[in-house]
Amino acid sequence: MPTVHRTPSVTLTAAPTRALDAELLVIPVFENDDLADEAGLDDATGGEFGRALARGAFTGKAFELLAVAASGWTTRRLALVGAGRQAEVTSDLLRRIAAMSGLATRDRRLTSMAIVLRPGMAPAAAVQAFTEGAILANYDGASYKTGTDSPPPVWLDRVQLRVSSTAGDLPAALERGLVLGECTNLARELSNEPGSTLTPRVLAERALSIAKTAGLRAEVLDEKQIADLRMGMLLGVARGSAEPPRMIVLRHEPKNAVKGVVLGLVGKGITFDTGGISIKPADNMDKMKDDMSGGAAVVCAMAAMARLGAPVSCIGVIPATENMPGGRAVKPGDILTSAEGKTVEVINTDAEGRLVLGDGLWYARRLGATHLVDVATLTGACVVALGRTTSGLFGTPAAWLEHVRRATERAGDRSWPMPIFDDYKEQLKSEIADFANTGGRPAGAITAALFIKEFSGGLPWVHMDIAGTAWAEESKPYQPKGATGVAVRTLAELALDAAAWSKL
Ligand code: BES
Ligand code: MN
Ligand code: ZN
Repeated sequence: MPTVHRTPSVTLTAAPTRALDAELLVIPVFENDDLADEAGLDDATGGEFGRALARGAFTGKAFELLAVAASGWTTRRLALVGAGRQAEVTSDLLRRIAAMSGLATRDRRLTSMAIVLRPGMAPAAAVQAFTEGAILANYDGASYKTGTDSPPPVWLDRVQLRVSSTAGDLPAALERGLVLGECTNLARELSNEPGSTLTPRVLAERALSIAKTAGLRAEVLDEKQIADLRMGMLLGVARGSAEPPRMIVLRHEPKNAVKGVVLGLVGKGITFDTGGISIKPADNMDKMKDDMSGGAAVVCAMAAMARLGAPVSCIGVIPATENMPGGRAVKPGDILTSAEGKTVEVINTDAEGRLVLGDGLWYARRLGATHLVDVATLTGACVVALGRTTSGLFGTPAAWLEHVRRATERAGDRSWPMPIFDDYKEQLKSEIADFANTGGRPAGAITAALFIKEFSGGLPWVHMDIAGTAWAEESKPYQPKGATGVAVRTLAELALDAAAWSKL
């Protein structure tokens, strides 16, 4: 398997800025910030920084970059990076500034950078965000290229964070950032891998090995066990494929778990989605190798929970299968019986995610989950509604939804709540079964969520639709293109915050 990411060493240092030893020295600069506290900086740049400020060539607007030389300083290459207005600084912005700086370092084919924390940045939050951002920059999905016109990527191997004191809670913040960044990249690696190598069986093996390394309990149900549990919806989707389905089950059971709650995470694990008999058009079908990104997020978030000792019991369930149009494939008009017993008329075989998630949610409940979150590349309609920057959030009760929403905010995974009024359920009516698996074009993301809700057993439940956010079509200054690892940090942050929502 080709390398798509590496974790650099990240260290704290209290050395003076001028003595930091790296190939690129990154100094975030707020608007109206003349860096007066960085003694000798302007002189080291030969007055270049002051002149750029004076003529308005550098204003400190977020993501501006001024590359200047610093003569006499240990690191000669300086990157002044705009950080926006000091009063508006967020972890999200700092994460992106570090990612942008890391990408700028790699673009220059350099392998080490130092980032300076500035007054006005809360040290622990900044250390975590900078660490995450730097690691997120160390991803490159173009891993199958050969030949000389595309030289192999350069990886960051050393990152230093300059703080005023390395003591207190900063080492823990760094460790958090390191684990969250690394686990995000691990999920990106899974999403990036082609459908024919990352089959359900291979995804299950990968999950087992990630779980083992992180210290999670793990188990994989095969097609026979899935049939014994009567998971008719998962089996229905798997029928058109030569590859057998798998149900991946992970458990995080820490000694310090908050009492009385079990977080149940369910991730869509469609390793390739052709649409089945309701086959998709050829254009962009290649993108459907990432239809297991929700499952990858659950696996990798749980690895982060184990490594960070998140204080909550957590069960992860990933129904994994291909969606193929084979000779035995489920046909439009077929009726499937879910493990829960409810019947479903398959109107469109391309609406397969909600089917496998329904059986997955049922299984998470059976294993004792009290609070549910599912994550899925579920609907094109969600991409139409919210675009490629923002995941859709659906769920109930409002307080649970809000806890998850705030976790997305801490994680830097943009999300926005969508309505799930009962009125929309009309659209899922079937003549002959309990409901249909599609509700037509209007409000397609919402009817999909309402379908899944039928399998939440009335527990607090949130559904995160990451169809638009799992893959970045274009690179941004702060984000390489390709798999994003969306939802990994959200789910981990949610688990770390269990004490807050356990009273729900
Ligand atoms: N995996 C797709 C959703 C998707 C679409 C993800 C575009 C990323 C980009 C899902 O299984 C699907 O095909 N959904 C259908 C549902 C429809 C048939 C009701 C869709 O959105 O078109
Ligand atoms: Mn589909
Ligand atoms: Zn799908």
